[in-house]
Amino acid sequence: MSANLLEHINYTDAKLSDLDKIFKLELNSYDHPWTIGILRDCLVNHYDFYKAEYNNNLIGYIISKISIYETHILNLTVSEDYRQKGIATDLLEMIFAKCYIMNSLNIFLETRVDNTPAIKLYEKHNFRRISIRKNYYQTSDGKQDAIIFKKILS
Ligand SMILES: CC(C)(COP(=O)(O)OP(=O)(O)OC[C@H]1O[C@@H](n2cnc3c(N)ncnc32)[C@H](O)[C@@H]1OP(=O)(O)O)[C@@H](O)C(=O)NCCC(=O)NCCS
Repeated sequence: MSANLLEHINYTDAKLSDLDKIFKLELNSYDHPWTIGILRDCLVNHYDFYKAEYNNNLIGYIISKISIYETHILNLTVSEDYRQKGIATDLLEMIFAKCYIMNSLNIFLETRVDNTPAIKLYEKHNFRRISIRKNYYQTSDGKQDAIIFKKILS
């Protein structure tokens, strides 16, 4: 892996032809992954869906729905071997840039209450906790709360 990895990563729109690779990374990244059908729907319905590639390997993606008044970030995933190198940050910044263009200044997302890497990531990017959604996520033995985050772009 290159020392200046970030210079060699390509960030582009995800396409339907990427679906199998995206689903594989989804399966490798979550105990309760999205189905391939949900991922396909996001591609077919032209969600704001970007991928990160290194040496033609898919190593991350972000799925977002950017609307005029508000934006929802629905999925952000980076391959385990490539974490803590700034890739999620780059993907988030792609969404922020498009939000500015579309004047969509309120961004929402949610994460599991025990997902420390994600919580730290979002707090670093000035997302603020606005509420808790009780029993929102499935776990292996029950349900788990979600933290709802909001960022106001200025
Ligand atoms: C959460 C996730 C997307 C972060 O991706 P990443 O590319 O590693 O994130 P970045 O390198 O851009 O990290 C930026 C900041 O996030 C925080 N962060 C990221 N990983 C962290 C970790 N393991 N522990 C603590 N803080 C972490 C840090 O503040 C970091 O800044 P720093 O490097 O200056 O300390 C990645 O861990 C992942 O894909 N996890 C599995 C899927 C998931 O949980 N997605 C989020 C669903 S809501």
